[in-house]
Amino acid sequence: MRIWKKCSVLVCVFVLLSMILIGCGSADERRIIRIGHNQSTNHPTHIALAAFQDYIAENLGDKYVVELYPSELLGSQTDMVQLTQTGAIDYCVASNAILETFSKNYELFNLPYLFASTEAYHASMDDTEITGPIFASTKKAGFTAVTWLDAGTRNFYTVDKPINSPADLKGLKIRVQQSPTNIEMMRLLGGSATPMSFGEVYTSLQSNIIDGAENNEMALTDNGHGDVCKYYSYDMHQMVPDILIGNNVLLEEMSEADRGVFEAGYDLINRVQREEWVKAVDKAKQKAVNEQGVQFIYPDQTPFVEACMPLHTSVLEKNEALRPLYDAIQRYNQLYPSVAE
Ligand code: GCU
Repeated sequence: MRIWKKCSVLVCVFVLLSMILIGCGSADERRIIRIGHNQSTNHPTHIALAAFQDYIAENLGDKYVVELYPSELLGSQTDMVQLTQTGAIDYCVASNAILETFSKNYELFNLPYLFASTEAYHASMDDTEITGPIFASTKKAGFTAVTWLDAGTRNFYTVDKPINSPADLKGLKIRVQQSPTNIEMMRLLGGSATPMSFGEVYTSLQSNIIDGAENNEMALTDNGHGDVCKYYSYDMHQMVPDILIGNNVLLEEMSEADRGVFEAGYDLINRVQREEWVKAVDKAKQKAVNEQGVQFIYPDQTPFVEACMPLHTSVLEKNEALRPLYDAIQRYNQLYPSVAE
């Protein structure tokens, strides 16, 4: 009798284990990974995330299904960061600019004229001694940065007034990202900062709520801003990276083996996005000039730089922990100076 009981317990355990294993393999039981971002499906960020989606399908397709939600389908970047905090979604791409409201440490990469060149920017962002303390600084807020994405250089563009010097910004309402550093930057440059989410900019330009905005070249074409704004001025005030953030519960509950695959996937996103970025910016410039009639202006950057420098001092004075990271960036600036120098 006892033997019979033992056998039936073993059979039950076997049936249960089989059910779990079969369950794991079936499509219904796979963990859905939701990733939100605010760019179109043509954008390098989406192309890179689609490569990640394929990579996870190939390597862990029995356990995870990656779903992509582009074009602010899940709300503005701030909304998406909040969804990632609570775990309602798993990852989102947020501009470094808006992350400073979740951790002051992110202010560092929002500083105007922080990086002397694209090479210095890339080398700094690839250096985990610099990014590590910043990427981990939102642990308590429920999310962690897993990689960065290129978002080029930010420049001013306006509906009808060319910007040749900071004096030209006076009296103009310029859309900035929702970040205290950006608002202060605009104050120092003499313009009037109008913070709003990316998705609101096109209509605000069209209806004259704002006189201009600031962004990389892709905003002219991919977001249609070049249909309204005819002057794009290369003052190159910022190189603000985009950051892929992930929900901490997901990141921590993953097995070590799965985490290894996901981490290789984050590297893939970074690599693909950067390759696609160079091509996309080139195409955007051609289209802006030839099809949208945008005029590109190359002002002397010196007065812009001089106006913005007090922001470096004030941010570093408020947050001393950033100083060694700032100094490390200066070393890359010396190694890769601006071509103008
Ligand atoms: C860039 C950046 C986005 C950001 C946008 C903005 O497109 O890649 O992450 O949201 O600028 O100005 O809001």
